[in-house]
Amino acid sequence: MYSALRGRDLLSIADLSRDDIEAILDHAAELKAGRARPRPLDGRNLGMIFQRPSNRTRVSFEVAIQQLGGHPIPIFSQEIQLGQRESTADVARILDRYLDGIVARLHFQTDLESIAANAAAPVVSAMTDAEHPCQILADLLTVREHAGDGATVTYIGDGNNVCSSWIYAAAILGLELRLVIPEGYEPRPQVARRARQLGLAEIRTWPVNTALEGTDVVYTDVWTSMGQEDEHERRRQDFSELQVNSALLQMAPPTARVMHCLPAHRGEEITDDVLDGPQSIVFDQAENRLHVQKAILSLIYAP
Ligand code: CP
Ligand code: NVA
Repeated sequence: MYSALRGRDLLSIADLSRDDIEAILDHAAELKAGRARPRPLDGRNLGMIFQRPSNRTRVSFEVAIQQLGGHPIPIFSQEIQLGQRESTADVARILDRYLDGIVARLHFQTDLESIAANAAAPVVSAMTDAEHPCQILADLLTVREHAGDGATVTYIGDGNNVCSSWIYAAAILGLELRLVIPEGYEPRPQVARRARQLGLAEIRTWPVNTALEGTDVVYTDVWTSMGQEDEHERRRQDFSELQVNSALLQMAPPTARVMHCLPAHRGEEITDDVLDGPQSIVFDQAENRLHVQKAILSLIYAP
């Protein structure tokens, strides 16, 4: 099978072309429907480094690797102590001698890049401070299934890792992404620079009511990401007007779908009635992590 992703790393959505993204989504749909059952990981061992907690990403990657015939090896953060017990580069060089690939959720994108630079085997991001590419690819599949390819997505909340990956995806695919982000919480300046290179003229933020008019998807994420716990109180105050609750949702069309990458801080960025309500597609979205990650690995390890 021809695959433009064969042997490549996936560290950022910004490294993918429109064709790459479409190939991943098409293959994910095929795998989800059971039309293909590839086993490109037969006899292969993939290491999984998680410096931060995870439910969806860890479990869906482990299942994906197993279903593709491979063997996932959890590598515990407290054991390898990346950059402390041993340099990040040395950890990568060693793991590269044993493994056929590495999936890593790290505090810092720079460490992920260092692992990729020092390992010949493919390295796939399971999220860092800067990005969450596999999440956004699963989100794109979910948007395609529920709202169609030309959907308008409104992202409400923090200009964080999830938001940055959405911005790159929108730039590459030419999607309409409306950002509702309080002043001071916009994505990092390098995100705007990279997005410009990808064809997005500017990162514009919208007032919430204008953004929600005619939107197909209302998307939110936590106000306080992992590692920002010290800022929790300030963030709760600064984001308080942007809670996705039934009053806010009434500004959007009744057909709009609600998405959240999860885990949710229920009662903060989103209320129970919305998260569990008829417009919510969050559990389909979470399921798609598995199908999309299988597609990514299947294309990276294509024969
Ligand atoms: N959405 C997501 O990445 O969830 P986990 O942190 O549980 O992996
Ligand atoms: N922005 C969140 C996403 C969790 C999946 C975080 O970084 O904690």
